[in-house]
Amino acid sequence: MSITTCIFDAYGTLFDVTAAARAAAAQPQNSSISENWPKLATDWRLKQLQYTWIRAITGAHADFWQVTQEGLDWAMEANGVGGAELRAELLELYWNLEAYGEVPKMLEILKTAGLQTAILSNGSPDMLTGAVSSAGIGGQLDALLSVESIGVFKPNRKVYDLVGAHFGCHLDEVLFVSSNGWDAAGAVGYGFRTVWVNRACEPMDRLPWKPHHQLPDLQQIPLIAGVLL
Ligand code: LAC
Repeated sequence: MSITTCIFDAYGTLFDVTAAARAAAAQPQNSSISENWPKLATDWRLKQLQYTWIRAITGAHADFWQVTQEGLDWAMEANGVGGAELRAELLELYWNLEAYGEVPKMLEILKTAGLQTAILSNGSPDMLTGAVSSAGIGGQLDALLSVESIGVFKPNRKVYDLVGAHFGCHLDEVLFVSSNGWDAAGAVGYGFRTVWVNRACEPMDRLPWKPHHQLPDLQQIPLIAGVLL
């Protein structure tokens, strides 16, 4: 069956999660992170994700905004970085993350070709609305599907169920796109045709499910979805 519906992970896939620390580090008042902001950003992301997995496994759900703040608090302490103002600035920037450069055009091509598009994310609905509107891509997305409607994080299968529940489409009509190897693996296990966007040239995760495609960025997504360019 041909692809009718393209589903995108949000953070790290459409939106650059390192952009908040990079932008804060460029401000003169934040000299404490001017050198080590990449490590702060990496630790922040890693803890944020670990906390989602642990909360999903144990049934102790909290929304992604809380987990994002808890991950940042751990990362700031681990890197010897303090300051309520810097913390507030980093969190504020997280609401307005930059989309990767190729995102608007890629979504426009999919929509012009008549495909359905959506985000499927751990992000809470207000976080997703903020990110999409600051990136100016809301008009190219048919839905923002958030795990908050079911109260469990990826890669729980109930999250991937949200796609069929919303669009009424069959599994093999869906192209799922994520930069998170574990999310792409979860989606393959669920039954979606899946692209892993591997911007950082990371090794393949050693999990039972391998993505159908691997790309360095999102430019070739329309081609994989069957859109003739
Ligand atoms: C998301 C995280 C996993 O957007 O990046 O769901």
